[in-house]
Amino acid sequence: MKLALFVSGTGSNARTIIDRFQAHPEDGVEVVLLVSNKANAGALLMAAERNVPTLVLKRDGFNNSEALLDDLKHFNVDLIALAGFLWLVPAYLVRAFPNRILNIHPALLPDYGGKGMYGANVHRAVKANGETESGITIHYVNEKYDEGNTVFQAAVRLDPEDTPEKIAERVLRLEHANYWRVIRRLR
Ligand code: GAR
Repeated sequence: MKLALFVSGTGSNARTIIDRFQAHPEDGVEVVLLVSNKANAGALLMAAERNVPTLVLKRDGFNNSEALLDDLKHFNVDLIALAGFLWLVPAYLVRAFPNRILNIHPALLPDYGGKGMYGANVHRAVKANGETESGITIHYVNEKYDEGNTVFQAAVRLDPEDTPEKIAERVLRLEHANYWRVIRRLR
């Protein structure tokens, strides 16, 4: 299975996924492309160091042309995994990859999802509400933020003294442990 990763930032999930599948060819998943919407995303260098081709998106082109489909076709992409990718996925892309685009969200959806709910904002809201658990949701992507069908969830218990940063750390660890496994299952 040929996988494309879409990122906007650090790319620690993308790094974990690339390292896993490069070290385990028997998993049958090859990361063939890393797509970033930011030209200065750390993930671009990380991918280049691992010999994964990279592509930088411009918002206009992404939303208003379907040129990206040619790139995905060129690399024979079977599955797309969003890993900290913050733009809404346009309808043409959802239609071209029905139930073949995954997203990872750092909370237990449907709670703490939707536009603006990403990264630290999520963990601050979880903390502000005094939640006793949080977790991760891996779901298919449709045309609305965080609303596609859930594929996998895992929870982590929170201590009352956990700061939003601590919650982020625990949740990220759960992401790194599980995203590649869920991807491998869809092979
Ligand atoms: C991850 O925690 C991911 O769940 C979150 O951004 C972080 C990216 O970290 N995604 C969202 O909030 C999407 N709504 P990374 O760049 O180190 O993988």
